[in-house]
Amino acid sequence: MGSCWSARIKSVAPSYSASTFAASSGANSKISSRDGVGLSSCSSTVSSSSVPPTPRSEGEILQSTNVKSFSFSELRTATRNFRPDSVLGEGGFGSVFKGWIDEQTLSATKPGIGIVIAVKRLNQDGFQGHREWLAEVNYLGQFQHPNLVKLIGYCLEDEHRLLVYEFMPRGSLENHLFRRGSYFQPLSWSLRMKVALGAARGLAFLHGSEAKVIYRDFKTSNILLDSNYGAKLSDFGLAKDGPTGDKSHVSTRVMGTYGYAAPEYLSTGHLTAKSDVYSFGVVLLEMLSGRRAIDKNRPTGEHNLVEWARPYLTNKRKIFRVLDSRLEGQYSMEGAQKVASLAFQCLLNEGRLRPNMDDVVTVLEELHEKKSNPPPPAAKAKPLPETMFHAQSFGSRSQRPRIRILEDSSSAKVSYPRPLASPLYE
Ligand SMILES: Nc1ncnc2c1ncn2[C@@H]1O[C@H](COP(=O)(O)OP(=O)(O)OP(=O)(O)O)[C@@H](O)[C@H]1O
Ligand SMILES: [Mg+2]
Repeated sequence: MGSCWSARIKSVAPSYSASTFAASSGANSKISSRDGVGLSSCSSTVSSSSVPPTPRSEGEILQSTNVKSFSFSELRTATRNFRPDSVLGEGGFGSVFKGWIDEQTLSATKPGIGIVIAVKRLNQDGFQGHREWLAEVNYLGQFQHPNLVKLIGYCLEDEHRLLVYEFMPRGSLENHLFRRGSYFQPLSWSLRMKVALGAARGLAFLHGSEAKVIYRDFKTSNILLDSNYGAKLSDFGLAKDGPTGDKSHVSTRVMGTYGYAAPEYLSTGHLTAKSDVYSFGVVLLEMLSGRRAIDKNRPTGEHNLVEWARPYLTNKRKIFRVLDSRLEGQYSMEGAQKVASLAFQCLLNEGRLRPNMDDVVTVLEELHEKKSNPPPPAAKAKPLPETMFHAQSFGSRSQRPRIRILEDSSSAKVSYPRPLASPLYE
């Protein structure tokens, strides 16, 4: 506590290959002048006077944040000892549990009393987990926006690292787009557009002059939905302060999730707001197509969604090959073309040619307002217990092998096939 944040991530010099990464990892590595621009720098200043000075040290971050510091025992009570049946989902950071607290005092209550919370518990050792935990407290502790999930508090006690969020009753966009099951109706076209607009507004806020932050992990599992399908971004573990002064980018080690990271960021480690715009394009394409960004179960040539779909996006006759067949009859031709063209622009290989997020919001708002061809009312799903909206009903972990590469290890851990954030190598 109280140690300079950068001391923890000095080891993270820009690293664009597995071998460079291996050489640069470890707490005693040399500091590079290009190292960890943004959050990692104790001395960096913020250029715009409208931006509140970003806290830099761990102590400063924890002191300046407006969120509650919970004790571990409080969160244990709130989640009924982290009961397995209250698990809402699992990610690379750890498991997320449902819990209850009093709305006024924020103290733990019995289930059914007070407000529902989501408690994320770090279950991996090491410094990458702590760093992501602190980045989350730093950013979400500072920002409040209707399209960012609300951080209620955190716990830092001995080896315990937890985060307490507002509960998002409809879970993640990932679950709604990709889960198959008799209980679920596919997300309608208009709801997909609503979610796209909400998520775009969240990113536009982050990129704007007030925040100036690059999110770096935009993907469907990090877009959470409230009861009205309002979209909120969660997971700021990989977020970075954007470039300041006349700098065009920040140099970082390449982190993110396969399938979503922009090509120039993967090849150079140069991170800009346009990297997030690319990831937004990938998610928009996932929403249009109902296909995952990377899906090895598809036929050869269709594993990588962007590569497969790109040629069809600007072709009026071939666009139907990309559109999710479950959406038939719900969109106007003009609307579908506009969204496909927007995705195409966001996915341009050259970052500077991509639109910025304000432009994206404008296009999506126009579509939202027009609704020239209103979709038929969405088919009614049976009422469901809230936990049905969450990842646990995807199946057991063993059914879902995935690869996550941990920072301090050269070996890959295989668990299930969902795209998770990790260092990305060339
Ligand atoms: N505030 C919340 N309210 C409701 N459910 C949540 C909340 N936060 C997370 N979840 C659920 O828990 C799941 C796991 O979230 P988590 O952010 O830990 O991992 P992830 O996004 O799937 O992967 P990654 O570790 O790469 O970010 C989410 O996909 C979502 O279903
Ligand atoms: Mg997440």
